[in-house]
Amino acid sequence: MSVSKICCIGAGYVGGPTMAMIAHKCPNIDVKVVDINETRIAQWNSDTLPIYEPGLDEIVKGCRGKNLTFTTEIDAAIKEADMIFISVNTPTKTFGVGAGRAANLEYVEKCARRIAEVAEGHKIVVEKSTLPVRTAEAVKRILSNASNGSTFDVLSNPEFLAEGTAIEDLLDPDRVLIGGERKEAIQELVDVYAHWVPTDRILTTNLWSSELSKLTANAFLAQRVSSINAISALCEATEADVDEVAAAIGTDSRIGPKFLKASVGFGGSCFQKDILNLVYLCEYFGLPEVAQYWEQVVRMNDYQKERFVSRMVRTMFNTVSDKKIAIWGFAFKKDTNDTRESAAIYVVRDLLLEKARVCIYDPQVTKQQVIQELEYVLSEGDNGISPAKRELIDNHVTFASSCEEASSDAHAIAVLTEWDEFAEVDFGKIHDSMKKPAFVFDGRNRLKQKNLVDSGFEYHGIGF
Ligand code: NAD
Ligand code: UGA
Repeated sequence: MSVSKICCIGAGYVGGPTMAMIAHKCPNIDVKVVDINETRIAQWNSDTLPIYEPGLDEIVKGCRGKNLTFTTEIDAAIKEADMIFISVNTPTKTFGVGAGRAANLEYVEKCARRIAEVAEGHKIVVEKSTLPVRTAEAVKRILSNASNGSTFDVLSNPEFLAEGTAIEDLLDPDRVLIGGERKEAIQELVDVYAHWVPTDRILTTNLWSSELSKLTANAFLAQRVSSINAISALCEATEADVDEVAAAIGTDSRIGPKFLKASVGFGGSCFQKDILNLVYLCEYFGLPEVAQYWEQVVRMNDYQKERFVSRMVRTMFNTVSDKKIAIWGFAFKKDTNDTRESAAIYVVRDLLLEKARVCIYDPQVTKQQVIQELEYVLSEGDNGISPAKRELIDNHVTFASSCEEASSDAHAIAVLTEWDEFAEVDFGKIHDSMKKPAFVFDGRNRLKQKNLVDSGFEYHGIGF
């Protein structure tokens, strides 16, 4: 039997693009992406998709109305599908046992229960969300109590796409990983991907190796960023240049050149949450030394963000109070509108606590989104946001529609996202419009150009 109908529960940054790619590459498979969030589904059905991702529009618009549907009719889609992907969010728990570390599996469990309740016949259930190792055990137990006597295979198929390059990554993945038990079920999913991925890049493992490989991959990637960021602090103290160090070590084929860009700190919805989850798992399985080892990757990242602001304050004569700081970029990386765990949130928060006035420009992030992030990060638990902190947001945060506008009359620029357009502006003109001395704090080392200094800026990058 080959799969002809797929349902994906969760129309987010993963569910939307991955299912659009399956629909695009497998015209004979009918793909339905379902979600409880009506607004999100309406956006997927509109001209403006909920996610900014280069190349996504063309693919979605090419398949929508043919073999790709976005709908809130979850039960109907579960019933008719041969294969059901669970691609819901798995955020860090904020309450109860494991708060601040463990993954909140409430949404995954709810999906499994819904499937158990409405499914008919045999289904292949695929874990697409990032999950702690051994989650499939719980999913299988829930499914074994299905109302209609349905039967199930459970597979793990973690997603490795990165935001901003999701379409490239899906088109040409380094590998697709499928973990499972029954060979025939694994083969069904292999056959879906084999429509466009060379079979030698489709790896199959047991369930637990697949689940654990996803957390491990993110932990290793984040560890590289924290490692080079740790060295960036030492570079600043010793006149070594972190980009030169990265290039020098990256030529060693055992180390490799990728993912060695020093920065203001990694962000995104997954690195921190997945490492904290790994830390929690290690503690749960009685491995405190292993837990501490990985936790340090997150600590180093926090240190890097704090260090960036203290350097700004120190350089600007030990005060930024009432100074205007232009914030270039708020997304956690370029080519996405995602701000989850962006380093910019923490940098702006700390600048506000220093009573600076910030003027924010990001080509894809809305004002409402920035305000939401700042309200969250400035809130004090259940007590919400204090009047003093509310005042900081109301009176110290403004928005601009270009980086030139943000910088006008500013004492400094902080570059927090590496948007390409930031390297193409007229720095002479911007310098003229700023207070002097005009500082640039480049949290991405992308403007590391002689012309910035030639234009009169005092330039500070990361790690030199
Ligand atoms: P997201 O928050 O963008 O989307 C999740 C969607 O699931 C939301 O729209 C939500 O409304 C929906 N949902 C939650 N519970 C539901 C339910 N019971 N029924 C129907 N819909 C429900 O999350 P995301 O970024 O797409 O991440 C999803 C998973 O994929 C996470 O486990 C994440 O760790 C993993 N992942 C994310 C990325 C990434 O780049 N964002 C990459 C690889 C893996
Ligand atoms: C990351 C992984 O790269 C994906 O493989 C994985 O699927 C995904 O997490 C996930 O599980 O969610 P993503 O977070 O979208 O993808 O983006 P990355 O390109 O990994 O960047 C993460 C953060 O690290 C960004 O803030 C980026 O600016 C920063 N970074 C990255 C650096 O500071 N330096 C680098 O050299 C690379």
